[in-house]
Amino acid sequence: MSSERMLVLGSENIDLVYGVDHIVRAGETISSTGLKRSAGGKGANQSAALGKAGMPVFFAGKIGRDGVWILDLLRSFGVDVSLTVIRDDVDTGQAIIQVDADGQNSIILTPGGNKAFTEDEIDSILSSFGEGDSIILQNEINLIGYAMEKALERGMRIILNPSPFDGTIRDLPLDLVDIFFVNEIEGAELAGLSETDDDEGFRRIAGELVRLYPKASIVLTAGSRGAYYATSDGIWHAPVVPCEAVDTTGAGDTFCGYFLASMQDGLDPQASLARASRAASITVSRPGAMLSMPLKSEVL
Ligand SMILES: Nc1ncnc2c1ncn2[C@@H]1O[C@H](COP(=O)(O)OP(=O)(O)O)[C@@H](O)[C@H]1O
Ligand SMILES: [Mg+2]
Repeated sequence: MSSERMLVLGSENIDLVYGVDHIVRAGETISSTGLKRSAGGKGANQSAALGKAGMPVFFAGKIGRDGVWILDLLRSFGVDVSLTVIRDDVDTGQAIIQVDADGQNSIILTPGGNKAFTEDEIDSILSSFGEGDSIILQNEINLIGYAMEKALERGMRIILNPSPFDGTIRDLPLDLVDIFFVNEIEGAELAGLSETDDDEGFRRIAGELVRLYPKASIVLTAGSRGAYYATSDGIWHAPVVPCEAVDTTGAGDTFCGYFLASMQDGLDPQASLARASRAASITVSRPGAMLSMPLKSEVL
């Protein structure tokens, strides 16, 4: 497993977070109380987590010139961003987020390059990878199904985080997936079961996913209820590492990166769940997404 390489084919977003007294109404012009710009997108975030966890990882996104600063940031975490497509005629994905005095938010998402991949671009990215390498996908770009099929032809392992979960997930060739990463809501949707908030319910969801996708491993995170790993051999669980939750942004992405890195390091499922829980709990205890993710040395 040690020479395997990881490719995250996924989204990169510029998040613009405006503080406002109230969410702007139709016809109204208001001033913000402040603006924070940060790097986001599940693809970029999971690459950051893998890089910080010490894994050799490639991030391939599609962005405009306005998003090059995020590539610099990813590079500083050890991520190889050389396969990212940079185009003058596309904008980097962007989220305009208003957060009001009560903490309520409203978001405008512009997918930009994230939803503008072409088959040729994906073929060209995948041509650097082969047997035993892994591709990690989320549901924030176009042509996911195409990428899965082409990755399979190359003998790659397919890792899918079907998030955000919507009606398009069912159209994907889900039987090709080797590892699913889902939170409790996505897990229930995928399993076709109702949402739950207890251990028995989470185990039922994980078990049903193994039954539906017998060749896949399932990683189910359940917020403050910890996380589960399930295969046809059994179900493992690790509780959260208690912390003061300051900002849960990036928790799931940190968990994903650290779980994969830990398994790759040769840890068993139980130890991998524990290490990923520790890493995610550090992310939760600090504000921000990528920047709040810990380095491996801190987790250890
Ligand atoms: N309040 C919390 N305290 C400690 N760890 C947490 C907390 N919330 C989330 N985590 C950690 O982050 C992981 C992912 O969180 P979760 O909410 O399941 O993902 P998502 O953000 O995708 O919904 C959890 O399994 C847990 O390890
Ligand atoms: Mg959650």
